[in-house]
Amino acid sequence: MTYKNIDVYNLIKPEILKLRKIGIDTANLDCRLLLSESLDRYETIYNHQNIYISEKEMKKFKNLIQQRLSGKPVSRIINKRSFWKKEFELNDATLDPRSDSETLIETVIECYPEKLECLKIIDLGSGTGCLGLSLLGEYPCSKVSFFDTSKKSLEMVKTNAQNFDLLERSKYINLDWNFRDWHKKLLKIENNMKYDIAISNPPYIPTKDIKILTKEVKKYDPFIALNGGKDGLDSYRSIFFNLSNIIKSNGKVFFEIGKGQENDVTKIAIKHGLFPKEYKKDLSGVTRVIIFGIK
Ligand SMILES: C[S@@+](CC[C@H](N)C(=O)[O-])C[C@H]1O[C@@H](n2cnc3c(N)ncnc32)[C@H](O)[C@@H]1O
Repeated sequence: MTYKNIDVYNLIKPEILKLRKIGIDTANLDCRLLLSESLDRYETIYNHQNIYISEKEMKKFKNLIQQRLSGKPVSRIINKRSFWKKEFELNDATLDPRSDSETLIETVIECYPEKLECLKIIDLGSGTGCLGLSLLGEYPCSKVSFFDTSKKSLEMVKTNAQNFDLLERSKYINLDWNFRDWHKKLLKIENNMKYDIAISNPPYIPTKDIKILTKEVKKYDPFIALNGGKDGLDSYRSIFFNLSNIIKSNGKVFFEIGKGQENDVTKIAIKHGLFPKEYKKDLSGVTRVIIFGIK
């Protein structure tokens, strides 16, 4: 195979211009990520580098750029997304992890600074497993049960757990929190052992707002991972209905919420035996995570 020695910026400049023309602000980064993927390289490629590229790799790069030009997000083209300290694989059944959700990880770490604590954690609506697996990376003695109604997303969690060598401390539970007595099935699976911590980033977009989300979100993120019902709060109602039955009396609950949902979510939680302890903002100053205790 013959390789061409080429300057990265010269290679990607025309592609950057095409992506910018259709309004993609992250054009430079996107091109470099797609180039890394084409070259099968794990590390980031920079503008100033010189690379060797074969014809086949060049063809692949052009094809990936074409997909990006059609509006497909980079994470969906390469089926990968960096979150917290790891790179997660995605599939079409999983939400593309959002950097705002890292607020939840920071909040848990602030509340539990002793990293060698052996915590039993449940990740409700686990998607790629980005929340629970990130916590397993931080707490080497802890265990996480991943709970999702989507079998395909649980398969993705398992793959990610395997990639990070975290399989032994992970459990996969395929249940639906819309089923009224979901906690009974869960406790049976867990031999009646309750959790120290529950974490969740449930679907919280009101159904009518989904159609006004960007194409990248509404076309590529699964509807079930976005749809929070009429007012966006259906999942909070279903989860809080049974949550105090599965958490230890000194346990804590960490929930991500959508913008402006803090009062409504707090009211639902109080109705079901939880009390708010703290509200945490994300980097944009939006209240993103609520910590609850058990009454
Ligand atoms: C907003 S996504 C969050 C995914 C992941 N935790 C994250 O932060 O990227 C919500 C997740 O809840 C799951 N889910 C939706 N409805 C559910 C239900 N009724 N029971 C269990 N899981 C559900 C979806 O499959 C999806 O994985």
